[in-house]
Amino acid sequence: MHVLSDEGDGTPIPSTLFGIFFEEINHAGNGGLWSELVSNRGFEAGGQNTPSNIAPWTPVGSSSDVLLATERASPFARNPIALRVEVLCDSCQAPVGVANPGYWGMDVRAGDEYKIIFWLKAATSSSVVVSFVSSDSSVTLAQSDTINVDGTKGWTKQEIVLKAQATDHYAQLTITSKEKTVFWIDQVSAMPVETYKGHGFRKDLALMLEELKPRFIRFPGGCYVEGERLQNAWRWRASVGPWEERPGHLGDVWGYWSDDGIGYFEFLQLAEDLDALPIWVFNNGVSHTDEVATSLIGPFVQEALDGLEFALGSSSSKYGALRAKMGHPEPFNLKYVAIGNEDCGKQYYRDNYLQFYYAIKKYYPDISIVTNCDGSYRQLDHPADLYDFHIYTSASNLFNMNHQFDKISRNDGPKAFVSEYAVTGNDAGRGSLLAALAEAAFLIGIERNSDVVHMTSYAPLFVNNNDRRWNPDSIVYDSWQSYGTPSYWVQKFFKLSSGATLLPSNITGSTNVNSVVTSAIRSSDTNDPSIIVKAVNFGNKAVGLKLNIDGSFWNSANSTAVILTSNNVMDENSFSNPTKVVPKTVTMSGKNQMGITLPAYSFMAITVPSL
Ligand code: AHR
Repeated sequence: MHVLSDEGDGTPIPSTLFGIFFEEINHAGNGGLWSELVSNRGFEAGGQNTPSNIAPWTPVGSSSDVLLATERASPFARNPIALRVEVLCDSCQAPVGVANPGYWGMDVRAGDEYKIIFWLKAATSSSVVVSFVSSDSSVTLAQSDTINVDGTKGWTKQEIVLKAQATDHYAQLTITSKEKTVFWIDQVSAMPVETYKGHGFRKDLALMLEELKPRFIRFPGGCYVEGERLQNAWRWRASVGPWEERPGHLGDVWGYWSDDGIGYFEFLQLAEDLDALPIWVFNNGVSHTDEVATSLIGPFVQEALDGLEFALGSSSSKYGALRAKMGHPEPFNLKYVAIGNEDCGKQYYRDNYLQFYYAIKKYYPDISIVTNCDGSYRQLDHPADLYDFHIYTSASNLFNMNHQFDKISRNDGPKAFVSEYAVTGNDAGRGSLLAALAEAAFLIGIERNSDVVHMTSYAPLFVNNNDRRWNPDSIVYDSWQSYGTPSYWVQKFFKLSSGATLLPSNITGSTNVNSVVTSAIRSSDTNDPSIIVKAVNFGNKAVGLKLNIDGSFWNSANSTAVILTSNNVMDENSFSNPTKVVPKTVTMSGKNQMGITLPAYSFMAITVPSL
């Protein structure tokens, strides 16, 4: 018998419990959430020596018609490379120049508008045309008027809006001429005019984030923050200011170049747009292979303090003024930082950590600080407000870990931030139902232990299907389509949990109750204080749950339920079948009594209106 009781008021669940973790991995930002269509827009990805690799740019026209060369000719000091385009033919038969395919093709749709900005210079007066063409170059989807260039003027900024007349999800951008000429281009940007909240985020992907109602967003990594080598670690200062002046950098852990269009400012903006708290993870002088000794860590500490000033300082402070200039005079709501990522065991981690910790607490006493050292099984030897807890494991392990936090000490020490969790390996494939069910059980365990776990986020969040550096992930996409894995849908079941009340529940089932994990919460929405019962069946047999409620505060006849299950526990979603494993509504019956059958390998949420 399963008895759910509503004894007393229950326990408040922290308002921060469920959030998201964005890392620049799998082309999550570049070629993902950031809607810039041009890849390697400043020609810097090949390095600053010339000649330099300009991939994925390619020539338009034969080698007898066009010559491309990188030169240190840019108008921008921090990203010196520009592209010289020499058109060799006179009165060319077809346009000649250069093309960019973006990140495995650009999504160009008939009727939609795209803003193109680039810098242009010519040796003598001549003209160029900007176009979107189909992936095989056979169809012109949109074309600018002729852009005349005055050879005496030097670099000029060009801004145009192209309206597409036809659709190709894998289009290219071209800049071409038909006359014998030499011109240079640099910092070429193409973005859809319509983006999420007008701030440059790809709409379908940002809306999928919004659907999760994340209470925080941890960014920008992960290992990305550390770098394989320190010289390639993400540095906030290089990611702010006018986009065309950002140098970009090689994310050497995940092996690709970032133009850094999505930078510190954009992450803070995204958090605000999602009504989520930003959690900035910064490098503390430790990478995967090298470290800065504590005696030399001062400039790194200053870098972190400057980053806090950028987010929080008044617009009359040095970095607050830069934020204001970028369009956000008011401070951002930054309340949490994490010092490093997965670096606890490193030689200088702890001593460096303390330098950062005390400096931040001195100037920003209200900022909560996350340490990389796991405090779940021991008392930490350094102060912290939260500690990172990362877990990637098999489905059965993670399922059993729904008890992970049951027995940890309930002292006043730092709280757990499960900042990365997922089922990985054979159980997970590219996002199986099995993995998602184990994660659901783990999350229910967290919900029940939210007195000691204050934050939780799945990892990784995004994967561009063309660059699967890490499987599985939460949201899959290419240039134009996207879907959620079962793990994504599981997270959606918890969107009302943050800030809700955990109801004391004492749950048993008809059979095989060891495969079942459950919780009950009351939503914090005062207009709709529903009770939500969640139950996972991780076993291969259906379980009958009879939920008798002694109190009269609910009526199962008015309940609604959704279930996540499928014919085969290894089922996954895909572009060809994006909704194979998604939540479906279930009809409930009965009055003041809930008899439900939880099918084998399923996850159910029953919403009961409070009377
Ligand atoms: O989520 C992928 C990686 O896993 C993260 O970069 C790192 O923190 C962890 O090892």
